[in-house]
Amino acid sequence: MMEEIPMRPQALGYVGISTKQVDDWRSYATRHLGMQLVDKSRTSAAFRMDDRKQRLVVDEDGGKGITLFGWEAADAAALDALATQLEGAGIKVARGSRALAEERRVKDLIVFNDPLGTRTEIFHGAEIAFDPFVPGRNISGFRTGPLGLGHVVKTVERIDEVVAFYRNVLGFGLSDYYDRPFKARFFHVNPRHHSLAFVETGKTDTHHMMVELYSFDDVGQGLDLALAEEGRLAVTLGRHAGDYMTSFYTNTPSEFIVEYGWGGQVIDPDTWQAFERTEGPSIWGHERSWLSPEKREEARKMRIKNAENGVRRPVQVIEGNYNLMPGVCPWWDSIRKAQKTGS
Ligand SMILES: [Fe+2]
Repeated sequence: MMEEIPMRPQALGYVGISTKQVDDWRSYATRHLGMQLVDKSRTSAAFRMDDRKQRLVVDEDGGKGITLFGWEAADAAALDALATQLEGAGIKVARGSRALAEERRVKDLIVFNDPLGTRTEIFHGAEIAFDPFVPGRNISGFRTGPLGLGHVVKTVERIDEVVAFYRNVLGFGLSDYYDRPFKARFFHVNPRHHSLAFVETGKTDTHHMMVELYSFDDVGQGLDLALAEEGRLAVTLGRHAGDYMTSFYTNTPSEFIVEYGWGGQVIDPDTWQAFERTEGPSIWGHERSWLSPEKREEARKMRIKNAENGVRRPVQVIEGNYNLMPGVCPWWDSIRKAQKTGS
């Protein structure tokens, strides 16, 4: 008999950040990330990344990290089914009030805590803004839509319990995993390689949030802006071995970092098989200031091994952001031919 696969939400719709400095977030999210500030009070801010009324909310409540996840369900029926599924697993689920739905700019939602105690909401019917998205700096735009707003990575004390919850209760699909230079598990809910991941560090916290840009130059220009500020860059430019994202990371006004990337691969969630990723986190680059000197050294050795092994992945492009180079170089053509025949 086939094992019944639990139903899953379809995308990471919004996230909420708790901070001590909402003013700093207003300037960081607009001037570095290119988000649009749409709503502010003295102690909160909301940002747009696309046609939706909001994707990111920041509250100056003295907390730290990403303290709210908003996962998207297809419709009211899917939301009900997910609520029933959670309750069946013994999770206490509350219906979001009318006022909360209005605050989140959605039709309806449910609220519960994940095993880490993180407030988690599942919603349907995100409101679309009447006005076009106006980025906070001159970027081409964020790759969102059915892929969701990006991904979030959390560090955890012990990885097993939380991984079991997301796999078995919320139906998240395991994309890949590795244990060196740190233990990590990557999960998808749609063709984005991962929308959520966990890294075991012995401490439960927010590690980073990733947003993906349409243009590689958006990322490079963001890197220039980061380099212009002392202490802004947290992880150097590099390319991930899992989602093929070329990215760098900056320190935010909070204690976690934001990954700014381009060119993530899409997978087919219906046929994808999870596997152990032996190349580690990155094909090249991504010198991580957050790692201990010993772990940094281990990570660097893995990358040098990748270089020795000739680990290469195709760039992932969308219509309109590439030109094909005609095959005019006999030397490169012979390399391609040799690769194709495996000789
Ligand atoms: Fe990431």
